[in-house]
Amino acid sequence: MEPRTPTEASDTLPEIKQNSYFDDNAPPKVLDSYRKLGKAFVSDHLQSGRRVVLVTSGGTTVPLENQTVRFIDNFSAGTRGATSAEYFLENGYAVIFLHRQYSLLPYSRHYSHSTNCFLDYMAEALNGEVMVNPEYQQKMLGVLRKYNAAKNENKLLLLSYTTINEYLWELKELAMLMRPLGPKALFYLAAAVSDFFLPKDRVSEHKIQSSDIKQPVTNGAPTSEPKGIASTASGKKLMIDLDPVPKFLKTLVDGWAPEGMIVSFKLETDPSLLVSKAHQALDKYSHHLVIGNLLSTRKFEVVFAAPEREEQWITVPVHRRVKSVTGARPNLSAKDWQTTEQEWLRGEQELEIESLIVPEVVKMHKEFIEKSQEIKAED
Ligand code: PMT
Repeated sequence: MEPRTPTEASDTLPEIKQNSYFDDNAPPKVLDSYRKLGKAFVSDHLQSGRRVVLVTSGGTTVPLENQTVRFIDNFSAGTRGATSAEYFLENGYAVIFLHRQYSLLPYSRHYSHSTNCFLDYMAEALNGEVMVNPEYQQKMLGVLRKYNAAKNENKLLLLSYTTINEYLWELKELAMLMRPLGPKALFYLAAAVSDFFLPKDRVSEHKIQSSDIKQPVTNGAPTSEPKGIASTASGKKLMIDLDPVPKFLKTLVDGWAPEGMIVSFKLETDPSLLVSKAHQALDKYSHHLVIGNLLSTRKFEVVFAAPEREEQWITVPVHRRVKSVTGARPNLSAKDWQTTEQEWLRGEQELEIESLIVPEVVKMHKEFIEKSQEIKAED
């Protein structure tokens, strides 16, 4: 996992296809205010010499209408990102948390999206005041203290997106703002990013009406139909004609953040593909680490793929009896995973896999910074 020297890293953005995306798709309205917030945050931590991580979290949407009623979504509750952000803060990082609006947030995640309503955490005291239910006092105090420390020390910046377009613009802006941090900038890309989108000029302004969908159609979308959609000869089907999202990871590595360490996630559902896909991503984007996970076991195991290293699996304790593992993949049956999941659902398995992932990433980032400094000293 060699850092690139400043001379290898380009000072100007590479003239590659991805850039036309930003010519064709307008920036979100919040971009100026996010730029100001991001700039102040980075400059604060640049002065103190602190490492800064940009954690992306949650799924991006692809709106089908400009005044959006319908959209295509990507799977992600934001658990990986929100949980990891807490462990990065515990490891001394300042965190920019770029998340899908209303997905899980660091600290509040312990009380939101749960089966409990927030009122279940409350109780009425004898004097009629509202208090925290004694059952939850201890844990909530710990969470509250950490939350207040992050807030009071200005170590957590929360910025949000909803659509793929907002995500891409904001990611680009923040990456550029983080450039002065050099190798102390870490990118931890846990968001589930759309692979296909509807370009601005093909998005219909108003809600797509089923009565607008004509039939039959012989070849492609007739011009009389709402932009970007088509029907089929066989009946009134909504056919959406999506373009591929440019592979922005390459631009991030080459142009936006040439000196930072970049970690991406790879989500698969077929276990036989995970490791090879993780290595393919490394080869394609030439970044520093891919963390592979399977949809079904993502809370209990991940695999690290990095250049010139053996894959490394991280597994949480299985059945509470088997210790957590780092190294080769333990040979576990489907039943083992089922038991682990059941224990986790019952709240018996409390260890969060992010508490094992983040320290490993932090260790690799430290080595990365040291190597960068050595290379600079040699120049
Ligand atoms: O939030 P949870 O419910 O806990 O779920 C967490 C998670 C499973 C979503 C998370 O751990 C995860 O795997 N996130 C990445 C999901 C994903 O987008 O995988 P992918 O195979 O589509 O993309 C792989 C990488 O390519 C991503 O890092 C992405 O940043 C990048 N990418 C994606 C699309 C695109 N057009 N260009 C890219 O560069």
